[in-house]
Amino acid sequence: MITLNVSASLRQEALKRQAEWQTKASLLSTRQGEGNDFLGWINLPEQTGADLLTKVKQTAERLRKLSQTVVVVGIGGSYLGARAVITAMRGELTNKKPDIIYAGHQLSQDYMNDLIHRLDGEDYSVIVISKSGTTIEPAVAFRILKQHCEQKYGKAASKDRIVCITDAHKGALKTLADQEGYETFVIPDDVGGRYSVLTPVGLLPIAVAGLDIDALLAGAKMMHKSVENLDDNNLSYVYALLRNYFIEQGKSVEVMTSFDARFYYLIEWWKQLFGESEGKNGKGLLPVGLLYTTDLHSMGQYMQEGQRLFFETFISLKRPDTVCKIPFSDNNLDGLNFMAGMELCEVNRQAELGTMLAHQQGGVPTLRIEVDAMDENHLGQLIYFFEYACGLSAYILGVNPFNQPGVESYKKNMFALIKKPGYEDKYEEIQSKIKDL
Ligand code: PA5
Repeated sequence: MITLNVSASLRQEALKRQAEWQTKASLLSTRQGEGNDFLGWINLPEQTGADLLTKVKQTAERLRKLSQTVVVVGIGGSYLGARAVITAMRGELTNKKPDIIYAGHQLSQDYMNDLIHRLDGEDYSVIVISKSGTTIEPAVAFRILKQHCEQKYGKAASKDRIVCITDAHKGALKTLADQEGYETFVIPDDVGGRYSVLTPVGLLPIAVAGLDIDALLAGAKMMHKSVENLDDNNLSYVYALLRNYFIEQGKSVEVMTSFDARFYYLIEWWKQLFGESEGKNGKGLLPVGLLYTTDLHSMGQYMQEGQRLFFETFISLKRPDTVCKIPFSDNNLDGLNFMAGMELCEVNRQAELGTMLAHQQGGVPTLRIEVDAMDENHLGQLIYFFEYACGLSAYILGVNPFNQPGVESYKKNMFALIKKPGYEDKYEEIQSKIKDL
């Protein structure tokens, strides 16, 4: 189960806005809002067919057998969802095989060389994911990895090790996959990148990590059922109302934080989902992610006493999977015997409650999303909860949740600067402007 804990007074204030905001929020279920050609994600939990799931599982099994490491190549919505689920389930320090590592999510040359060096000594496979098939970061990374793979295993054997996930019809990756004869999975036309974790974009890497994709979809399906009606039992709706209420109160930032590092990439995924969906037309809460207690020693001072720009959402796990007790020490030199026998999670929980209280007393409104267990079902629930909340929240805000026109600006400059054919005029135009950078 997932619960959304918030003080009765805040909840009441947010719910009071229902009359005003319900019509805008209902654009999601009536499919009448802007971007309504990208609503395919809504029914993915129910409509993902058995044949597709069987194919995903078979491919995952093949890659698992062939590989010590599987490299997932993608950026933004084409990789964050898988990384969120895999990190949440495996933890940071896992040595589970195959290891899942990432490429094409940035352009660092040293990262790429470290990766190649590592792959020289390991058996590996590559899952390359790009809906447009033309995004420069994954495209370049894949070119390098494809060449490495073919040199290492030969062209024919590489075909077993490379899987492409892309558009059904268009894009350079689609053309390349068809010509090379790679196994391919389709990202449906009506599902955008950041809403694609429950398509093969997320399902294949998650299955390769040995995780239960049926349970993930079952969790999402449960959550879908519970968010269908716009009432105060609908967690996504209440969260969306609260977010817009805080904007109305002058907040410009939502800080999402957790006392469990396993949520780190879920928070990264959340940042992308909300940042890219809502940050347009000069609107939208800036989504910021922190990890406690780590960041209490870097941002704690600001959170307690800095500008009151933000509200804070805590994402908590009710109980960890394992037990770790603080041992008794005969000489008690560190003075910690008063904690002997306590579980670390108990200390962490008290740190969380203490932090929430301190921040509230420092004038920060707080929400808490509590998750009963870290398993695929709950992660499916969480994913769907946030996706649906994001659609509702953006429509209440008055923006199209499903486009990202602003992302093109840096791309155009970069293409001009690397002299991509067709960008010659832009190249001339920005030469004088980059001198001062
Ligand atoms: O949410 C989005 O649409 C984006 O973050 C994309 O996922 C990201 O830009 C990668 O795009 P593509 O899958 O086309 O390479």
